[in-house]
Amino acid sequence: MTSYKITFKCYLVIVTVVAFSFYCGFILSKDNRFQIAKYLPKFTQIRGILQKLDSLENYIKKQRFQVSGQFKDFSAKLSQFVLDRNTKPKEPMKTQEEPWRKSNKTGMILFTTWIDVAEKDIVHRNVFRTWRKWLPLIKPLFFYINASTGNRLKKEGWLVRPVPKTGCGDSNMPIMRDMFLDAVTNYKSVLYGYANGDITFDNGIQKAIDHLVESTVVQEKPVLILVRRTNVDFSNSPELDENSNITEMYNKGKAVMDGSSDGFFTNKLFPWEYVPNAVVGRIGIGMWLVSYARAMNVTVIDITKTVRAIHMTTKSGNLESNFKKNVRCNHVIYGQLNIVPSSWGCGHILCAVMEVIVDEHGKTVMIRKSPKNMEKKCSNCYMDLKKILP
Ligand SMILES: *[C@@H]1O[C@H](CO)[C@@H](O)[C@H](O)[C@H]1NC(C)=O
Ligand SMILES: *[C@@H]1O[C@H](CO)[C@@H](O)[C@H](O)[C@H]1NC(C)=O
Ligand SMILES: *[C@@H]1O[C@H](CO)[C@@H](O)[C@H](O)[C@H]1NC(C)=O
Ligand SMILES: *[C@@H]1O[C@H](CO)[C@@H](O)[C@H](O)[C@H]1NC(C)=O
Repeated sequence: MTSYKITFKCYLVIVTVVAFSFYCGFILSKDNRFQIAKYLPKFTQIRGILQKLDSLENYIKKQRFQVSGQFKDFSAKLSQFVLDRNTKPKEPMKTQEEPWRKSNKTGMILFTTWIDVAEKDIVHRNVFRTWRKWLPLIKPLFFYINASTGNRLKKEGWLVRPVPKTGCGDSNMPIMRDMFLDAVTNYKSVLYGYANGDITFDNGIQKAIDHLVESTVVQEKPVLILVRRTNVDFSNSPELDENSNITEMYNKGKAVMDGSSDGFFTNKLFPWEYVPNAVVGRIGIGMWLVSYARAMNVTVIDITKTVRAIHMTTKSGNLESNFKKNVRCNHVIYGQLNIVPSSWGCGHILCAVMEVIVDEHGKTVMIRKSPKNMEKKCSNCYMDLKKILP
C-alpha cells in the first residue's frame, strides 16, 4: 500500500503543476484588459487555484476506488480534461461563421457520380436540388460518365467534370482516388468530399464544414472526415427541394449499424496518391479507406453527431452493391497488394479519434473522443503498406 501512496503523491504533484500552468496560460491568453483586471486580484487568483486543486483532489480520491487499470484510466481522463480545457470555448466566441459566409471562399467541393437508372431518378433529382443549398461554402461537383447527364447537372448549377479514370474490369466504375485528385487539381478549396448519389444532408453540414475549415487540424494535418447515414424509405418517395426538412426525415429513419461511413471528406494533405485503383459503387471501399487513413496517421474525424445524412433507399435496397457485376473487385486489389487491414473493424466510423459536437453553449466544436468510448476492435490495427508506399 505504501507504493500506492507514493504513486498517489506523484499524481498530485503532476496534477498540481499541470493545473497551475494551465491556470497561468488561461490568464495570459486573455488579451482583453477587462478580463485581466477581473482575474488579477490575488484573492480570486488563490481561491481559484485552491478550488481547482480541491476539485482535482476529490477527483483523484474517486479514482482510488477503482480497482484495476487505474493508471491507464487516470491518464486517459487527465488528457481528456486537458483537451476539453483546450477545445471548449470559455467565452462567447467572436462569430467566426459570419465573415466566412460573407466571403465567397469555398470550404468544400462535394462530389458524386452515378449512372442514370429510371428507378433512382427521383433520388438523383433530390440530390441535385439539395446539394446546392450550401453554396458558396459547399460547391457540388458531378463526375459524369455520360456527357448528357453532365450537361443536365451543369444547367442545374453544378460543377461538372468527366470521370477521370475507371476500373473494376469491364464494369468501368469510377476510381475514387482519381476523382479526388482531379477535384484538387481543378478547384481551389479547403476540403474535397465524396458521398454516394443517394445521400443528402441536413444543414448541420454547413455548420460542421464552416467550423472544420477554420480549425488548425484541418489546415495543418491530413484529415479524413466521416459521417454515418440513416436509411429513409424513398420507394414512394417525396420530391425534396431546398426547403425540405431533412432533420425531420432523419429522425424518422432507421440508423445503419454496419459501422461504415457514407461520406469521405479530406483535405489536400490526405495521401491519395498511394491509394490503389479501388472504385466507388463496389463493396470494400469505405472501411478500407478508414483503415488506410489510420495506418498513415491521418486524423480521422467523425461528424455524425452534428450532420444528419440520409440514405434515400429505393427498391433495390440498401446493400445494392452486393448484387452487382465484379462485386469483389476492390477486395481483389487489396489481396494482390497485401493491404487487407488486420481487421475490417479497424475501418469502423467509431474508430475516429476526433469528433465534432455541439457543446453546451450551442457552439460547434471539435473534441478528442475519450479513449474509453473507443471500441476494442479499433485497437491493434495494422496494415502492411510496403507494396503501395514508395
Ligand atoms: C461574391 O460573389 C458574388 C457573385 O459572384 C459577388 O457579387 C460578390 O461581390 C462576391 N462577394 C465577395 C465578398 O467577394
Ligand atoms: C447517355 O444518356 C442519354 C440520355 O439519357 C442516352 O440517350 C444515351 O444513350 C446515353 N449514352 C450512353 C453512351 O449511355
Ligand atoms: C425541422 O425538423 C426538426 C425536427 O422535427 C425541427 O426541430 C426543426 O425546427 C425543423 N426545421 C425547420 C426549418 O422547420
Ligand atoms: C505513424 O506513426 C507511428 C508512430 O509515431 C510511426 O511508427 C509510423 O511509422 C507512422 N506511419 C506512417 C505511415 O507515417
